[in-house]
Amino acid sequence: MTIAIRYQSRNGNTEAFAEQISAVVDAPAEKIDTPLPADPVDVLFVGGGTYMLRPDKTLSAFISGLDAAKVKHIAIFTTSGGPETPADKSLTKLADKKGIPVIGHFHQMMGGKGMIGAKKDVTLKPDQVQAVKTFAQDMLTKN
Ligand SMILES: Cc1cc2nc3c(=O)[nH]c(=O)nc-3n(C[C@H](O)[C@H](O)[C@H](O)COP(=O)(O)O)c2cc1C
Repeated sequence: MTIAIRYQSRNGNTEAFAEQISAVVDAPAEKIDTPLPADPVDVLFVGGGTYMLRPDKTLSAFISGLDAAKVKHIAIFTTSGGPETPADKSLTKLADKKGIPVIGHFHQMMGGKGMIGAKKDVTLKPDQVQAVKTFAQDMLTKN
């Protein structure tokens, strides 16, 4: 099974979750400008944050540029200041438009963390680590 992780993160929150997924699925956590493997990807974990009610444009463009022949399933992980928003759901809509099934969506509310916009090292809480690891394991059984 070929697994890949690609994320967009301005301030480190989404990156911290990408790293936890990486530890579970044995694939490196890479930024979205890293080319995908040559072989078709069975599960592509795609992560990003919400900024002014929207996903980052680079992340939307990344999903819109995917090839359904090369990506079989997408598992989305998102972080934002508040609860899951239309911005998070819009990533699923973009994948739908490409004809790539979204097999799951993990969302984590970070509260005020990251709202001021400074890039920093993020330490996740134990329950956040457990939740994202469970999500990652679950996604491997769904493709
Ligand atoms: C410029 C900026 C705008 C943001 N706008 C929103 C927003 O509209 N809604 C929300 O819930 N969170 C918002 N947030 C919070 C981020 O979504 C949250 O910190 C997220 O974890 C960022 O991910 P990152 O650290 O991977 O960049 C914003 C943060 C920044 C820095």
